[in-house]
Amino acid sequence: MTSPHILKIARMGHPILRQRAEEVSNPCSEDVQHIIADMRATIEDFGSLTGLAAPQVFISKRIVIYSISKERSRGTLTQDIPATVMINPIIDILSDEKTLDWEGCLSLPGLWGEVPRYKHIYVRYQTPTGETITHEATDFHARAIQHECDHLDGILYPQRMVDMSRFAFQEEALRYLWKHET
Ligand code: NI
Repeated sequence: MTSPHILKIARMGHPILRQRAEEVSNPCSEDVQHIIADMRATIEDFGSLTGLAAPQVFISKRIVIYSISKERSRGTLTQDIPATVMINPIIDILSDEKTLDWEGCLSLPGLWGEVPRYKHIYVRYQTPTGETITHEATDFHARAIQHECDHLDGILYPQRMVDMSRFAFQEEALRYLWKHET
């Protein structure tokens, strides 16, 4: 395998972020392993990142990588979720209940928005070794998966927002909005 590359990030407005990404026919293929290695290198280059979806690096395929630290989960996880690769993920919603929380996205640098997401989901996906994994997720974990999977359907988080007065530059949001509520 050639050494991985750090990939360029597509930003809001680029048509690749509006497309439905293609199903991966063979999760074990060498092509897919290359894409994953490049996505991992890209994540590493940014330092800490909750997630990255392939369309964000100009690859219109149904591949997502995410990880969540205990701290980032705002106390809803008892342990870190290590970097997890999801191929062809499918989400089922287990309850109508939604929660509101702030989200950012590499494709909207410097911005933050308060987004409603389902609190309790069930996810099914394939791994790069061809296994099929299913599990439930709640709260921040469920939020992260919904955010990343939306990228595969050409949806960015502002399209999920209900109150656009809660869309702001991250610095201002931290200063005037978020901080005052916690
Ligand atoms: Ni994103």
